[in-house]
Amino acid sequence: MRKASGLIADLAGKLQLVDGNCDEHGPASVLVRREKASWHCPACLERTIADERRGLVLREHTAALMASAAIPARYVGQRFVASTADQKAVRVQVKAFRDFIVEQPRWAALVLAGECGTGKTLLACEFVESMVKNLGMSARYLTAKGMISEIQATYGREGRSEETEIARLASYDVLVIDEIDAKPDTANANLLLNEIVNRRYSDGKPVVVITNQKFSDLGQYVGDRVYSRLHENSFVCAHTWADARRAA
Ligand SMILES: Nc1ncnc2c1ncn2[C@@H]1O[C@H](COP(=O)(O)OP(=O)(O)OP(=O)(O)O)[C@@H](O)[C@H]1O
Ligand SMILES: [Mg+2]
Ligand SMILES: [Zn+2]
Repeated sequence: MRKASGLIADLAGKLQLVDGNCDEHGPASVLVRREKASWHCPACLERTIADERRGLVLREHTAALMASAAIPARYVGQRFVASTADQKAVRVQVKAFRDFIVEQPRWAALVLAGECGTGKTLLACEFVESMVKNLGMSARYLTAKGMISEIQATYGREGRSEETEIARLASYDVLVIDEIDAKPDTANANLLLNEIVNRRYSDGKPVVVITNQKFSDLGQYVGDRVYSRLHENSFVCAHTWADARRAA
């Protein structure tokens, strides 16, 4: 008992009650250490701590969204440079798509079509990064082949089902399906692509699809049901310029 009261007396000797006034929160008395007996507003301090905590949570949330977006490492932080009139027109189209889905979450299809090395994957990844970092949207990038493999990997596995994977892919605010014309041409792959696109179409969630084919030829690669949906609220970008890889 004596020990505790000694400790309290010791502590009381080191502390001091200081009065002060905050323009916003009014007067307050705070207990501070004698050696730095300066006053601070307790309400302002509480707010600063809450703001810092919120900032930290937000940064962690964004980092988690970026990780699950699975953008290939080489495209992270890279910018699509639009120097020609055609490239600028494509940028305008991407911006129109962005405004359309931000105004109201709904089905829309951004189609990036063009030959190899024309910056389609780069442009889509830059788009995903900006949606995640600036708007806190959830997004996922994958190739059509990767998407099919991801779902098929659940077959025969305990605790994971095809339905869970399809629901997960359907749930992202933005889904990018790269190399959609190069998906495996099997009945199961066609069924899965149909299911995911149709689920997103029904739930009002946009897609970005990328192809090396002309949009007008895409039907024969993705099937009529997917192709038809890609025409509704459609934003088509024709990457008509030369392969940047060959120019490098
Ligand atoms: N407009 C651009 N601005 C900056 N870099 C570009 C641009 N276009 C292409 N590149 C660069 O060229 C390379 C190829 O781009 P990307 O991989 O996006 O092409 P792609 O159209 O997806 O090709 P593929 O059809 O072969 O997949 C990348 O290294 C990319 O950074
Ligand atoms: Mg590509
Ligand atoms: Zn205050």
